[in-house]
Amino acid sequence: MRVCVIGTGYVGLVTGVCLAHIGHHVICVDNNEEKIKLMKSGQSPIYEPGLSDLMQGCTESGKLEFTSDLAAGVAHGEILFIAVGTPALPNGESDTRYVEAVARGIGSNLNGGYKVIVNKSTVPIGSGDWVRMIVLDGFNEQKNSNITPEFDVVSNPEFLREGSAVYDTFNPDRIVLGSNNDKAIAMMQQLYSPLVERKFGDDISLPPVPVVVTDLNSAEMIKYAANAFLATKISFINEVANICDRVGADVTQVAKGIGLDSRIGNKFLQAGIGWGGSCFPKDVLALIHTATDYGYETELLNAAVQVNKRQRLIAVEKLQQELKILKGKTIGLLGLTFKPDTDDMRDAPSLIIIEQLNRLGAKVKAYDPIVSQSGMSHGLSGVIIETDPEMLADSCDALVLVTDWQAFLTLNYGKMASLMINPVIIDGRNFLERSKLEQAGFRYVGIGR
Ligand code: UDX
Repeated sequence: MRVCVIGTGYVGLVTGVCLAHIGHHVICVDNNEEKIKLMKSGQSPIYEPGLSDLMQGCTESGKLEFTSDLAAGVAHGEILFIAVGTPALPNGESDTRYVEAVARGIGSNLNGGYKVIVNKSTVPIGSGDWVRMIVLDGFNEQKNSNITPEFDVVSNPEFLREGSAVYDTFNPDRIVLGSNNDKAIAMMQQLYSPLVERKFGDDISLPPVPVVVTDLNSAEMIKYAANAFLATKISFINEVANICDRVGADVTQVAKGIGLDSRIGNKFLQAGIGWGGSCFPKDVLALIHTATDYGYETELLNAAVQVNKRQRLIAVEKLQQELKILKGKTIGLLGLTFKPDTDDMRDAPSLIIIEQLNRLGAKVKAYDPIVSQSGMSHGLSGVIIETDPEMLADSCDALVLVTDWQAFLTLNYGKMASLMINPVIIDGRNFLERSKLEQAGFRYVGIGR
């Protein structure tokens, strides 16, 4: 099928590349010329395992093209994905101005022929009808009265995790399609049929991927509810961890014990310094904002946010318990990104930890496998970036493991302990083995264990 993906951020690029890989002819549109140039040369502007290889293969086979020309993209696509950012405004509301600009642009470039316009960006509930209205406005502004605009809007939320976005696209738990139009749904089902039949997944013997066909508003709500649930689940286990700390229980054992109950499930029960990233914080706040707009106060979601805010500072509280005064002490952070296998620093717990340690007068150093290696500092202030873990440990009063990078499991902790003033490690992700660290000469402090 002929597909146009508008916006080559995280969601758009992964969607475009993966749809090209399963055989569709995809044009990705972005108004950033620099980015288009980079992608045309076969390079990915984001770090995502497996993405560059797929990108190169699809570009060579002619299935994947990049352009800054929206008109060309709209003319090409029978299915047009809107995949631009919807960042949170200071009040928590989603900023939909990029979606609006793209919808208007699509409208003004409609050139006859039926199109399915897909909301892939996470948009406020009710945006499907709003996008339809903006597309029509855009169409009417160009006064092209010879043709009738024929299109339908579908909500098709994505559930990709950063760092495993390609894997998640080929092995989805479900596909959600929201629309009140059968023709649009049928085209989307055709688009995704290779994925539904698991032709590109890891296990072709599994039953087909469930497709949830529903109305626009419910599809939009599914995305928010999924992220809000997962974020709440993490806040829940973090609250349990804080109680464990006080009563002398081990939250990793508790998570194991409750996770075996199939009604609870064992995923997203890893206690630590809380959730961050580009989705959970933004989506939970947006859902709270929408609820408030409709006169409902979200007590549970507010609490999930509060627990998360406090949880980020637990690492600092534990440092205070261990070192007492932090002023004049040197703290080394292992990891900076909000989670492993990404270079994303958006809403990363490390940012708040750095801020608080600076406020208390500590010197902060950090080593992160991606941030240190790529030399990118993300505009980070108040932190010295070291290029290897041993340099990080040198002359530190304590280390804090902030991100659960696999590489941190096999560091030379014996050597690191010997370089430190005071070999203490706060394991902010309960990721390391206590006995191994103790053998290496560390005092090990976990979260809720
Ligand atoms: C999330 C959703 O998982 C995905 O479905 C959605 O499309 C986008 O948001 P992502 O932001 O990539 O994906 O990260 P995820 O792997 O879900 O982790 C989110 C945060 O929760 C990270 O900061 C992670 O460290 C934290 N987390 C996750 C925990 O603290 N404990 C856990 O058990 C799981």
